[in-house]
Amino acid sequence: MAIALQTFLLQLILFFFASHAEANNPRKIYLVQMKVGGHRYGSSSGHQELLREVLDDNSTVSNALIYSYRESFTGFSARLTHSERQNLKRRREVLQVSRSRNLKLHTTRSWDFMNLTLAAQRNPMNESNLVVAVIDSGIWPYSELFSSDSPPPPAWQNKCQNITCNNKIVGARSYYLDKKDYNVTEENSVIDVVGHGTHVASIVAGREIEKASYFGLAKGTVRGGVPNAKIAVYKTCWKIRKNGTEVLICPQHTALAAVEDAIKDKVDIISYSQGWDYPVPMEEDHVSWAFLRALKNGILTSAVAGNSGKDGYYALINGAPWVMTVAASMKDRLFETTVELEGDEPITVYNTINTFKTQDSFYSLLDETGSAESTRKRELLAESKDGLISYNHKNDKGKDVFFNSSQITILEKAIKERAKGAIVWGNFTDTVGSKKFQFPIASVFLDKEYGDQLRKYFAKDRSTHAVKIHKTEEIPDEGMVPTVAEMSSRGPNCDSYLANILKPDIAAPGLDIIAGWPENVKLLPLAANDYRHLRFNIMSGTSMACPHATGLALYIKSFKHWSPSAIKSALMTTSTEMVGMGDGFAYGSGQLNATKVLDPGLIYETQHQDYIDYMCKQGYNTEKLRSHVGSNEINCSGIKIDKNADLNYPSMSAEVELNTKFSKVFYRTVTNVGNPKSTYLGKIKFRGKKNFKAKITVKPRWLNFSKLGQTKTFTVTVTGLSEPNSKHSKETFMLGNTWLTWTEIGGSRQVRSPIVIYSIAKGTNACREF
Ligand SMILES: *[C@@H]1O[C@H](CO)[C@@H](O)[C@H](O)[C@H]1NC(C)=O
Ligand SMILES: *[C@@H]1O[C@H](CO)[C@@H](O)[C@H](O)[C@H]1NC(C)=O
Ligand SMILES: *[C@@H]1O[C@H](CO)[C@@H](O)[C@H](O)[C@H]1NC(C)=O
Ligand SMILES: *[C@@H]1O[C@H](CO)[C@@H](O)[C@H](O)[C@H]1NC(C)=O
Ligand SMILES: *[C@@H]1O[C@H](CO)[C@@H](O)[C@H](O)[C@H]1NC(C)=O
Ligand SMILES: *[C@@H]1O[C@H](CO)[C@@H](O)[C@H](O)[C@H]1NC(C)=O
Ligand SMILES: *[C@@H]1O[C@H](CO)[C@@H](O)[C@H](O)[C@H]1NC(C)=O
Ligand SMILES: *[C@@H]1O[C@H](CO)[C@@H](O)[C@H](O)[C@H]1NC(C)=O
Ligand SMILES: *[C@@H]1O[C@H](CO)[C@@H](O)[C@H](O)[C@H]1NC(C)=O
Ligand SMILES: *[C@@H]1O[C@H](CO)[C@@H](O)[C@H](O)[C@H]1NC(C)=O
Ligand SMILES: *[C@@H]1O[C@H](CO)[C@@H](O)[C@H](O)[C@H]1NC(C)=O
Repeated sequence: MAIALQTFLLQLILFFFASHAEANNPRKIYLVQMKVGGHRYGSSSGHQELLREVLDDNSTVSNALIYSYRESFTGFSARLTHSERQNLKRRREVLQVSRSRNLKLHTTRSWDFMNLTLAAQRNPMNESNLVVAVIDSGIWPYSELFSSDSPPPPAWQNKCQNITCNNKIVGARSYYLDKKDYNVTEENSVIDVVGHGTHVASIVAGREIEKASYFGLAKGTVRGGVPNAKIAVYKTCWKIRKNGTEVLICPQHTALAAVEDAIKDKVDIISYSQGWDYPVPMEEDHVSWAFLRALKNGILTSAVAGNSGKDGYYALINGAPWVMTVAASMKDRLFETTVELEGDEPITVYNTINTFKTQDSFYSLLDETGSAESTRKRELLAESKDGLISYNHKNDKGKDVFFNSSQITILEKAIKERAKGAIVWGNFTDTVGSKKFQFPIASVFLDKEYGDQLRKYFAKDRSTHAVKIHKTEEIPDEGMVPTVAEMSSRGPNCDSYLANILKPDIAAPGLDIIAGWPENVKLLPLAANDYRHLRFNIMSGTSMACPHATGLALYIKSFKHWSPSAIKSALMTTSTEMVGMGDGFAYGSGQLNATKVLDPGLIYETQHQDYIDYMCKQGYNTEKLRSHVGSNEINCSGIKIDKNADLNYPSMSAEVELNTKFSKVFYRTVTNVGNPKSTYLGKIKFRGKKNFKAKITVKPRWLNFSKLGQTKTFTVTVTGLSEPNSKHSKETFMLGNTWLTWTEIGGSRQVRSPIVIYSIAKGTNACREF
C-alpha cells in the first residue's frame, strides 16, 4: 500500500525532482577543492599534473578529468576510485574532496498581478542589451516565445551548440554527462526534453504571445517580465535511467561548469531554479560560492528557496547573502472544479485542473474505493504478473470511476476501457501542498474529506448514483491578500555562519503559472499516456517564482546602472507586506511588486569585500575562504571574531538565545537615489502582537539628504526578552511582523525592512552533513 502510494507520488510530481544517481562505475565523480596559492597546481595544466601523480596505473588523465574550473571554483571535477581519492585527500594542496551531488530542479497574469503590465514604462533598447543565463534543462527553441526583432547585444559573442542562435536565444551550451558515469537516456543537445527550462526561460524573457491559454484556462497574453531581453541557455540537467526508472538529475559539477561559462560570457543575471534537496553547510555549497564570484563580476544570481515548506524551519536552500533567494507566493486567481452529484449537493475543489469539457450529462458512478485487497486490485496484480486479463472484471465503459489513489493503476485500466471520467480519492494535502492534480481524462482529485462525502452519497439508497465532472474554471480570488505558498521552503539558513541573515529575501508568484512548453514533451508527468501536446503548460513551485524575481531585476537593470546589491535592495524594500500564514522566514521582505522598483528612494549597498569581511567576523576559516573566493588576499586572522556582526543588508535579523534578555544593534548605511533634497523619518511598525516585550529604537530618527548618492548611517536597537511566543513550540521565540520603514516627508517613498529576532530549536539534522 505504502509503496503504491509512493509510486504514485513519484510519477506525479517527483519526476522533476529525482535526486541521487547511481553509477555502477567504481569511479565516481568528485569535486576536488584546492587551496589558493603556495603550490604549482593551480592552473588547468596543474590539475592534470596533480591527477597524473595520484591516478592508478589503469587510468589516464583524459579519462579522469571532467572540468577544470577557473572562474567558478578553485579546483576541478574528476572521476576517481576510492584509492585515488584517498591519495588526493593526503595532498597538502587539496582542501576538500567531495562527491558531485545531484541538485534538483525545484504564467501570464502573474506579471500584471505584480503590476509590471504591458503598458508599463519600458526601455526596450536597453532591455534588448541584457542577457539572462538560465541554468536548467535546456530550451525548446522552436517556440515563437523565443523570437525577437532586436539584434543581440553588440559585444555578445555568438555561442550556440546544437541550435541556431537567433535574436532571442543568443547562447546555448550543453554540459553532457558521460555514459561511463550515468545511463543518460537523451542525446547530447541543448533541446529541452523535459519542459522545466523552457517554462522558466519564458517567464523571464519570453516575447508576448496573444490569446494563449491552457485548454481555455488562464486565457490571456503569455509573456516574460522583460520580453525584449535575451536568453543564454546552460543545460545542466539530464534524463538518466536509474534502477529501471527514468529520472532527471542536475549534477553539481555541471552547474559549476555552467556558472564558469556564464561569468566568461558576461551575462547580466543568472536565474537558478535548482539546488540541493536539503539544506547544506556553506562549506559544501560550492555553487553558492560560485555565485559570489559571479557577483564580483557584477552578475546577480536569483535562486529558488526550495519546495520543502512542509519540513518547517531550516529547510531553505540557496541562502547565501549575495544571492537573491526567492520564495513562492499565490496569485489572485483560483482554479475551481466542481463535481455535480445527481440529487445532492455539488462538491467544489481547488486542487485539480480538469481541462476536459464539462460532461454532457450525469454518468453513473462506479465505486472502486474498496480496500487494497479488493477483487479489482487482485485482478490487476494478477494481470501485471502474467500479462493476461485473467478475471472477468467490471466494465468501465461510459462510467465515471471513483477510486482510491493508492490504486492508481486503475486509472490506466479505466482509460483503456473508455471510462467517461475519473474521480481520484487520496490523502495528499500534507505532502503536496498546493500542487494541482491533473489526469489525462476528465477527472477530479478529492482529498480525504470530500472523498468521504462522495462515499456517503454512494451509500445513499438511490436507484442510480451519477455524477457530472465540470471543466475547471479560473476565477478571481476576491478577498485575496498576498500570501506565501505552503510548499515554499522556510528559513533561516541552517548554517550558523549565516544565522543573522534573514532568508528568503522575497516572495514572487509561483503557483499555477502558465508559460512556454515544448510541444513534443508530455504535458503531464504521468504513467498513463496523455497524447495531448501544447505550447504552454501550467506549473507550480519556487522554480516558477525565481524567474519572476530575475525578470524584475532585469527590468530595473534596463533603467539603472545599479550594483547587484542595489537592485536586490530596491526589490526588497519596495515589496508589499504579506499576511496570512508564515512569517519572515517564509517570505522575507514580502511580495515582489513592480510598482515602485524604479524609485526606491534609498538603497542598501553591499560590496563584494563586505561579504568576505562578514564571513571572517563570523569566524570562517581563512584558508577555506580563500579557496571558495579564489583569492590569496584574504586574511581573517587580523579581524576580530564578532558573531553579532552583520551585513549592510536590506533586512535585519539576529539569532538570540532563548529565555534571555537580549540587546541587538543593527548598523546600516543607506544611499540616496530618490530626491536630491529629501528627508526620511524612521518608524517602527508592529502588527498584531499585544503585550509585546521588546523595545525598538532608531537613531537618528531623521535622515536629511542634500544630494544624490549621499549616504547616511543609522542604528536600530532592539532590546527585550526572548520568551517562547509561538503556539507551535516551546523552543521558539520570534519577534515577527515588525518593520523599520523610512518614510519620505512630503513625498511618497517608503523604504521598508523587516526586523526578525528569533530563537528556534534546530532539528537534529538542520544542515545535512556528509
Ligand atoms: C547502465 O545500465 C546498465 C544496464 O542496466 C548497467 O549494466 C550499467 O552498469 C549502467 N551504467 C551506469 C553508469 O550506471
Ligand atoms: C585498476 O587496477 C587496479 C589494480 O591496479 C584494480 O584493482 C582495479 O580493479 C582496476 N580498475 C579498473 C577500473 O580497471
Ligand atoms: C502592488 O503595489 C500596489 C501599490 O502599492 C498595490 O496596490 C498592489 O496591490 C500591490 N500588488 C501586489 C500583488 O502586492
Ligand atoms: C550538440 O552539440 C555538442 C557540442 O557541440 C555535440 O557534441 C553534439 O553532438 C551535438 N548534438 C547533436 C544532436 O547534434
Ligand atoms: C533499486 O531497485 C531495487 C529493486 O527494485 C531495490 O531493491 C533498490 O532499493 C533500489 N535502489 C534504489 C537506490 O532505489
Ligand atoms: C484508501 O485505501 C486505504 C486502504 O484501504 C485506506 O486506508 C484509505 O483510507 C483510503 N482512502 C484514502 C483517501 O486514501
Ligand atoms: C494523511 O497522511 C498523513 C501522513 O502522510 C497522516 O498523518 C494523516 O493522518 C492522513 N490523513 C488521513 C485522513 O488519512
Ligand atoms: C541605455 O542606453 C543608452 C544608449 O545606449 C545608454 O547611454 C544608457 O547608459 C543605457 N542605460 C542603462 C541603464 O543601461
Ligand atoms: C502600477 O504601476 C504604475 C507605474 O508603473 C503606476 O502608475 C500605477 O499606479 C500602479 N498601479 C497600482 C495598482 O499600483
Ligand atoms: C594574516 O595576518 C596575520 C597578521 O594580521 C599574519 O600574522 C598572518 O601570517 C597572516 N596569514 C596569512 C595566511 O597570510
Ligand atoms: C532633518 O529634518 C527634520 C525635518 O525637517 C528636522 O526636524 C531635523 O532637525 C533635521 N535634522 C538635521 C540633523 O538637520
